[in-house]
Amino acid sequence: MSSSIGTLFRVTTFGESHGRAIGCIVDGCPARIPLSPDDIQTQLNRRRPGASALSTPRQETDAVTILSGVERGLTLGTPIGLSIPNADTRPADYAEMEAIPRPSHADFTYAEKYGMRARSGGGRASARETAARVAAGAIAEKMLAAFHPVEIVAWVEAAGDILAQRPDLGAVTRATVDASPARCPDPAAAPRIVAAIESARDRGDSIGGVIACVCRGVPAGWGEPVFDKLTAQLARAMMSIPATRGFEVGAGFAAARMRGSEHNDPFTARPGGGIRPASNHCGGIQGGISNGEEIFFRVAFKPVSTISLPQSTAAFDGTPVTFEAKGRHDPCVLPRAVPVVEAMAALVLGDAFLHQQIQLMPRPAAARPENSP
Ligand SMILES: Cc1cc2nc3c(=O)[nH]c(=O)nc-3n(C[C@H](O)[C@H](O)[C@H](O)COP(=O)(O)O)c2cc1C
Repeated sequence: MSSSIGTLFRVTTFGESHGRAIGCIVDGCPARIPLSPDDIQTQLNRRRPGASALSTPRQETDAVTILSGVERGLTLGTPIGLSIPNADTRPADYAEMEAIPRPSHADFTYAEKYGMRARSGGGRASARETAARVAAGAIAEKMLAAFHPVEIVAWVEAAGDILAQRPDLGAVTRATVDASPARCPDPAAAPRIVAAIESARDRGDSIGGVIACVCRGVPAGWGEPVFDKLTAQLARAMMSIPATRGFEVGAGFAAARMRGSEHNDPFTARPGGGIRPASNHCGGIQGGISNGEEIFFRVAFKPVSTISLPQSTAAFDGTPVTFEAKGRHDPCVLPRAVPVVEAMAALVLGDAFLHQQIQLMPRPAAARPENSP
């Protein structure tokens, strides 16, 4: 079972939803990067359950403890260990699920694969695990910020059948995204999304949607072809988030319906020298390598599978049952998944940044090709 992501900036998460704690080890972060618990807590608080009426009422403070790798506010270059306690666990809520796998959750497949599974709360399949990703992502962002002005901002672009206006990709900020509990920066769509989530919750049902994300300030050259293209790494990272169902970069699936003359991004002179693409249908990545433009991608999320409406299904032993889920669940993952998407982008970019340092090392003069600067 792979619980790790990245090679040079490598993160391993641990912990089950209803165990004592969850956390991660971040290995490969360079020394002397400023890092405080507050840097991590700020992002954790954005993902925290119970913080909004639109999320699960499970109450977790998600107070992070830095166990290792940091002294006097600076990283030591050694593995950084982080721990986040599970305080508000209610295993009794999951008693019924020992016999009945939740339709479209991971109960059945975990049991088939391992022959046993965590006794309550979805174990590793629970979105609780994503708190560790968010904590690690905050460290990746601190590392990136020490070398490049990288800004990663995600927001809710669609929920159910409501589609929001796309914000200015150069200007959208986390503050404008967080202005609405829907985490949608379109002031017309945000209240409609809030109402749709509330309506699903009140009916005991759930809805899905789409999160969009922009990464600004990424220089040209990040990404490792051919198997570790930036597009491939982002797709893998995003599709590892629970409940994801699709990934699109740039024009995405719409590109399949465009002509080359519409989709191409012709070059133009860059003020100060060199060239840059005049448009950005490719979403800032060409040949798996960042081209210096804004990286733009979208992630589709399914409706949450644990719903309290009655469903005709079968218990593990084959008995037909009517299942009405108990416990505390999100009627829509989107607002809480926004910082998770940002964190996964930060982990991919952090690893890509470290890899690119190899290409930037000074070469011996004899090894320089004739046309190199
Ligand atoms: C932020 C977030 C919160 C989630 N909350 C819930 C939840 O409350 N109840 C639930 O059944 N699934 C929730 N999920 C989704 C499940 O974790 C996911 O559907 C499950 O692990 C099965 O994996 P799959 O949907 O990717 O196949 C959440 C996902 C995210 C990203």
